[in-house]
Amino acid sequence: MNKNIALIGFMGTGKSRVGRELSKLLGMDFIETDSLIVERTGKSIVEIFKEAGEKEFRRLESEVVKEVSNVKNSVISCGGGVVLNSSNVESLRKGSVLFLLTASSEVILERITRDGESRPLLNVQDRMKKIDSLMEFRKPFYLKAADHVINTTNLELEQVINNILELLREEV
Ligand code: S3P
Repeated sequence: MNKNIALIGFMGTGKSRVGRELSKLLGMDFIETDSLIVERTGKSIVEIFKEAGEKEFRRLESEVVKEVSNVKNSVISCGGGVVLNSSNVESLRKGSVLFLLTASSEVILERITRDGESRPLLNVQDRMKKIDSLMEFRKPFYLKAADHVINTTNLELEQVINNILELLREEV
């Protein structure tokens, strides 16, 4: 594979799980933009949002995205807000095929609830309402950035991966 695979999409759409498995299967490295930010700052995503705010988080995120645009042979799982900045998308496009993972709001809520309190943006009373409003705003950004779209709502991990592999075969 001469291009990286970048996974984009809303929180809870399975980017990390899918990315990790896919990288193993293809013998590629696995990179998570969020993990790189945590590594660099020595702080959790929750702490960064709390102490420095979303704007600073987005700045760190853009820095990391710029760096990963130079990597090779990698599956890159991107934080859900990466697509909001067009230069992030441009950086990613240079070396990666962009797969958008989607899921229904219900499934997203279920998966996110399972993950606990790790998403500061969804640390609100009415999570469903927040998911819906964020999604409505972001949808055009996601669709514009994506080379391929996979709706994971009714798919098992293995099926998502098989879909990606099939689409990759068409790429080469
Ligand atoms: C965010 C998604 C999170 C993380 C941060 C902000 C977003 O990543 O980057 O909490 O704005 O959608 P995941 O999509 O991996 O949950």
